[in-house]
Amino acid sequence: MAPNPPPPKRYPSACREILVEYSKHVQSIGEVIFELLSEALGLDPDHLKDIGCLEGHTFGCQYYPPCPEPERTLGHVRHRDPDFLTILLQDQIGGLQVLHQDHWIDVPPLEGALIINIGDLLQLISNDKFRSVEHRVLAKSVGPRISLACLFSTHLEPSNRVYGPLKQLLSPQNPPLYEETTILNYLNSYKSVGGLENALSFHKL
Ligand code: OGA
Ligand code: NI
Repeated sequence: MAPNPPPPKRYPSACREILVEYSKHVQSIGEVIFELLSEALGLDPDHLKDIGCLEGHTFGCQYYPPCPEPERTLGHVRHRDPDFLTILLQDQIGGLQVLHQDHWIDVPPLEGALIINIGDLLQLISNDKFRSVEHRVLAKSVGPRISLACLFSTHLEPSNRVYGPLKQLLSPQNPPLYEETTILNYLNSYKSVGGLENALSFHKL
């Protein structure tokens, strides 16, 4: 959807207008969140924006049909998001879980709430100050469940820009934990393990 949205006729007609509208709103929320995250890292509020974290976003629209035997399958396998940040809108069905201290914790739906997930690329540039969260979606006998994930990254715009741990966060006590990489190079690692393992480990120093 950003920075170069496809022509509207490429979207399903049922959600064409609302997606364009939602994209504008989610971009504004993203701006505020990246400002807060920049400040949390002790940086200038515009820092993450200035290095391109807000330059692109794409949508993953997900439809999970009701499943007659939910315990025999999964809605969405465990994974970390391959982006800087994800803003997720889930409906009231539930099933989303995050991994916390080796336990899967339910993220119950809350009307009007958005879920903000740190992605791998933000973990990389923050040198592990922010952690990308592992999550999954359980299959349910009720449904369908519908969710809309907005992934902030420029992976659809091939670029030679390299990302590594931000220099401002490094010191002799805090040496860089990752090598510099382009987004596409990191995505190749992600794809090579099908998102099933921690792709950041391929870029560790
Ligand atoms: C994703 C994701 C969760 C959901 O798209 O990366 O984790 O609730 N979606 O559908
Ligand atoms: Ni995800």
